[in-house]
Amino acid sequence: MSFMELAKDRYSVRSFSEKPVEQEKMDAILEAARIAPTAVNYQPQRIYVLRSKGAVDLINGLCKCIYGAPVVFLICSDERRSWKSRTERGYSSGEMDCSIVCTHMMLEAWELGIGSVWVRLFDVEEVRKAFSLPPHIRPICLLPIGYPAADCVPYAPWHNVYRPIEDFVEYL
Ligand SMILES: Cc1cc2nc3c(=O)[nH]c(=O)nc-3n(C[C@H](O)[C@H](O)[C@H](O)COP(=O)(O)O)c2cc1C
Repeated sequence: MSFMELAKDRYSVRSFSEKPVEQEKMDAILEAARIAPTAVNYQPQRIYVLRSKGAVDLINGLCKCIYGAPVVFLICSDERRSWKSRTERGYSSGEMDCSIVCTHMMLEAWELGIGSVWVRLFDVEEVRKAFSLPPHIRPICLLPIGYPAADCVPYAPWHNVYRPIEDFVEYL
């Protein structure tokens, strides 16, 4: 599949099968996270793999959007490592870096037949407390992954309804 075919084919999976994700596929998805571009290549991503029953139960209790996934990546920014702007007060690249990391993971997963859904509907402080994250580790998003359930289809009929390019691009 070409990149464009892959990008157009992917959709958010919101119904997972119980089939475990093979370690080779986990490794490939984490490799995609490893090589993602980040500001100054500072690589602030810190990823917790929630795979034990205890960890998956814990995140299910805090987030309604896990959809039965057997594995959930908790993608965080290590704010001690992220790039900080000298001119823009308070700016850290952590969230942007981790968004690129998550996008890499999502697309690599899809290439391997593994579905995922980007999730931000959780309380950062609750998650921090539940997984005993230190203050410099900032939860950015969750990425539940797994094999799509047999009857899985895109949840929203508008998932691939996109604005025309002229609507959001302006040549100057
Ligand atoms: C920043 C961000 C946050 C999102 N948060 C959630 C979420 O909390 N729960 C959820 O089910 N989907 C969430 N999504 C998935 C989007 O709803 C989905 O990507 C969008 O509707 C397009 O559909 P598609 O991924 O199937 O193409 C999120 C996506 C992004 C990029």
